[in-house]
Amino acid sequence: MKKRVAILISGAGSNMEALVRAMARPGYPAEPVLVLSNRPGAGGLEKARALGVPTAVVDHRPFGEDRAAFEAALDEALRPARPDILCLAGFMRILTEGFIARWRGRMLNIHPSLLPRHRGLDTHARAIAAGDSQAGCTVHEVTAELDGGPILGQARLDIRPDDTPRTLAARILPLEHRLYPVVLERFARGERGRIELAVEE
Ligand code: GRF
Repeated sequence: MKKRVAILISGAGSNMEALVRAMARPGYPAEPVLVLSNRPGAGGLEKARALGVPTAVVDHRPFGEDRAAFEAALDEALRPARPDILCLAGFMRILTEGFIARWRGRMLNIHPSLLPRHRGLDTHARAIAAGDSQAGCTVHEVTAELDGGPILGQARLDIRPDDTPRTLAARILPLEHRLYPVVLERFARGERGRIELAVEE
């Protein structure tokens, strides 16, 4: 039985697209059942529709500071799709401990840094400012600690002397697109070990 995967996005959805395309490959142990965005205008929604994946929107704005009410609406939108796994893919809302506890061991996120370095935002600028020799991306399980859950996979590259936050982001995004489907495939098969994806640009 394939695992049912819901993908949560806020923006362009390029990681979502990479996941959906990978799941279409023969023998992949998971299938996309829903793409959910908290932003009604997210470009990824159109991409998901074009790929034939059902979409939903739960706009966070009407809920203001009431994160629990927002998450209750998220639960309600997710429930009919009966997902086994949630993949956060550029989903820009911080989730509460309650929601995370409900999905414990079943929720992944991709983060554009070599965790544990540079949790949170502006990862590329911070990697350059810190003088790091390498940067990359990490897929990890989501726990209550922001960007702090068990690491399932990483892909890395060398930072070039002339890299800017923008060029670094552009170089790392394709690595994200390769790493996330590989990690999801292993995760869907129940493999929890950590991998390092060898990549050539
Ligand atoms: C990615 O770099 C992801 O790691 C970060 O936000 C970006 C989302 O891009 N958290 P996309 O929506 O998948 O194109």
